[in-house]
Amino acid sequence: HLQNNNFACIMLLICKTQLFLAYTQSNINILKFTHLPHLAGTEQNLKYAEQIKNEWQEFGLDSVEMVPYDVLLSYPNKSQPNYISIVDHIGNEVFKTSLAEPVPQGYEDIPNIVPPYSAFSAKGQPEGDLVYVNYGRTEDFFQLERQMGINVTGKIVIVRYGKIFRGNKVKNAILAGAKGIIMFSDPADYWAAEVQPYPDGWNLPGGGAQRGNVLNLNGAGDPLTPGYPAKEYTHRFSLEDGVGLPKIPVHPIGFHDAIHLNMGGEIPPNNWKGALNVSYMIGPGFTDDFKSQKVRMNIYTNNQVTRIYNVIGRIRGALEPDRYVILGGHRDAWVFGGIDPMSGAAVVHETVRSCVCVCLGWKPRRTIIFASWDAEEFGLLGSTEWAEDNAKLLQERAVAYINADSAIEGECVYIASPEEGEDGVSLYDSWHKRDNWTNDRDAPRISKLGSGSDFEAYFIRLGIAAGRARYTKNKKTERYSSYPVYHSVYETFEIVEKFYDPSFRRLRAVAQVRGGLIFLLADSQLLPLDVNQYADSLRKYAQSIAQLAQKNPNEMETYGVSFDSLFSAVENFTVAATDFHERLEILNTADPLQVRIMNDQLMYLERAFIDPLGLPGRPFYRHVIFAPSSHNKYAGESFPGIYDALFDIENSADPEKAWEEVKRQISIAAFTVNAAAMTLTPPA
Ligand SMILES: *[C@@H]1O[C@H](CO)[C@@H](O)[C@H](O)[C@H]1NC(C)=O
Ligand SMILES: *[C@@H]1O[C@H](CO)[C@@H](O)[C@H](O)[C@H]1NC(C)=O
Ligand SMILES: *[C@@H]1O[C@H](CO)[C@@H](O)[C@H](O)[C@H]1NC(C)=O
Ligand SMILES: *[C@@H]1O[C@H](CO)[C@@H](O)[C@H](O)[C@H]1NC(C)=O
Ligand SMILES: *[C@@H]1O[C@H](CO)[C@@H](O)[C@H](O)[C@H]1NC(C)=O
Ligand SMILES: [Zn+2]
Repeated sequence: HLQNNNFACIMLLICKTQLFLAYTQSNINILKFTHLPHLAGTEQNLKYAEQIKNEWQEFGLDSVEMVPYDVLLSYPNKSQPNYISIVDHIGNEVFKTSLAEPVPQGYEDIPNIVPPYSAFSAKGQPEGDLVYVNYGRTEDFFQLERQMGINVTGKIVIVRYGKIFRGNKVKNAILAGAKGIIMFSDPADYWAAEVQPYPDGWNLPGGGAQRGNVLNLNGAGDPLTPGYPAKEYTHRFSLEDGVGLPKIPVHPIGFHDAIHLNMGGEIPPNNWKGALNVSYMIGPGFTDDFKSQKVRMNIYTNNQVTRIYNVIGRIRGALEPDRYVILGGHRDAWVFGGIDPMSGAAVVHETVRSCVCVCLGWKPRRTIIFASWDAEEFGLLGSTEWAEDNAKLLQERAVAYINADSAIEGECVYIASPEEGEDGVSLYDSWHKRDNWTNDRDAPRISKLGSGSDFEAYFIRLGIAAGRARYTKNKKTERYSSYPVYHSVYETFEIVEKFYDPSFRRLRAVAQVRGGLIFLLADSQLLPLDVNQYADSLRKYAQSIAQLAQKNPNEMETYGVSFDSLFSAVENFTVAATDFHERLEILNTADPLQVRIMNDQLMYLERAFIDPLGLPGRPFYRHVIFAPSSHNKYAGESFPGIYDALFDIENSADPEKAWEEVKRQISIAAFTVNAAAMTLTPPA
């Protein structure tokens, strides 16, 4: 809940022109770190870490260090590649999926391009009939099991990528009893209209496929050392006991391979059909002509404890060195990382440079910590291990965390300022306008954080205020998921330079917003955190969760379920926030102790939403107001404890017990919101 400031004004704060000029370098930095593949745990990613460390030192940070951890990673076996095959009735392979993506022109001789794979997949060669389950969402499996009556126990499931985090698809397949899962990229989800496949455009070629981890960590970080930093001496669980590791083989394929699967069986509902010229039959198994054929997965991926490196830099705060503002983004990439993450890492790099180099002699009020995280792609490992390592310090000292992953994911077709032809229009106005000027007073919408990047441990486990900002697509009109070439070999420097941001003006705008947030948080006398906005959001969230429960009015009456306590807590919070704000306005800002007292209340407010016991079954998700959705890690859920207790309650085997849990969760939420409100009251 960062205050919605006019971002265009932020730069006035400090050496405006220089900063602007400095940011024109962002493009050069992307180029520098996208020449070679730099997967976590590889030599090349260590080299980039060393280069970043050296440059941050040259830029003049007060300290820069490399912080290693030994975490569980996962790689394909170079001498025994993964693939999917179709086998005939005597077990001969009649079709094999491709072993690699066609490499883009100019990159043919580059070694160490890891082929598409699902990191942390179980090894194995399961063989059987296929069942197609649309996106593999909870609702897709419900439809398959409850309406179509198809049981996938002992089957191999195939789902299309998109809509939700891939790890949730895998979890759903396992819960349903599948013995393997294949994920494919459908043009319906990875092609924008009127756009060519790369290199002529930014759509995903048919031979392209999405890499990615398939863990269900729920915020644990390294699967073998949940809760503790993965140091040399740290005790490690065995692989069998590792957190979130799937017990079945998983593999991604492109649509050129997917069209060879001659699915038969049940007819799909229309909304299960993608954009390929195939029937999208559900199975189980193939059409009559191919009835005797089976699908076999051949997965030889290995889990391996591997050293990773975060780079951590600091500028010591001039007045409040014990207050930390953190800007972090990951460095590791599946291949070149042209968009993910280097469009974000370039922003961090430039912010470091402009902070210390250009504004010579300037010291922020508070300490700024810059982080280049490793192994984000393997489950947010670098950032989570560092959070675990420094949890006590961060709990006491961290003011806010700003994340810097991919700076762009959206469209190349229409973008306003800081665009050509919109000189003089602020980014804020352009943003507001594209959000249709909801009304003059309201700021444009900021959505809930969810997860899927490195802010997770800071915000959802430790309760540190967090934010992210990027150029995105218009989610109403652009139907494709993430961006078409996401996590493929086609995420090159050239795709950014040719299509996403030819003038690098968008990248610069994002750098200014992220850098501006850091400057404001680090240098404002009073923290730019708005408690009234938090109160507004809490009210909105409480109303919407109560509305969800109201779908079952009879049960609510039968079991005596009421949201009164939650609304009372929200009311108390609102009053406390209003009072707090009034006291802020008459604060004697010449009295440093009074300022510090108010700032501490602002800083610790987010911490007050943490429940040390965590959410049910998710001990590392401890924020009572926000958590990643249990059905899609990418999406944020508000009042997640209540939401999960209400989920699918109509089909509960023991309604009384289920509604008791809803009541318990409402009471936890009410208690926590009221307790947070108390932290805003005047001290004594
Ligand atoms: C990789 O595959 C080769 C060839 O089958 C095998 O000899 C080797 O043990 C495998 N490596 C690992 C780490 O499993
Ligand atoms: C699905 O099939 C398995 C084994 O055939 C069986 O144990 C399980 O109960 C079935 N599930 C449902 C929901 O019918
Ligand atoms: C779609 O597939 C059918 C049957 O295989 C074929 O006859 C038709 O030409 C295909 N259409 C396109 C546009 O490829
Ligand atoms: C704003 O309204 C226009 C015209 O009605 C529509 O095309 C566009 O998608 C809307 N934008 C958003 C972000 O809702
Ligand atoms: C809200 O404040 C009132 C007055 O202090 C108190 O009686 C009530 O219990 C509070 N609500 C909650 C949920 O704690
Ligand atoms: Zn990323």
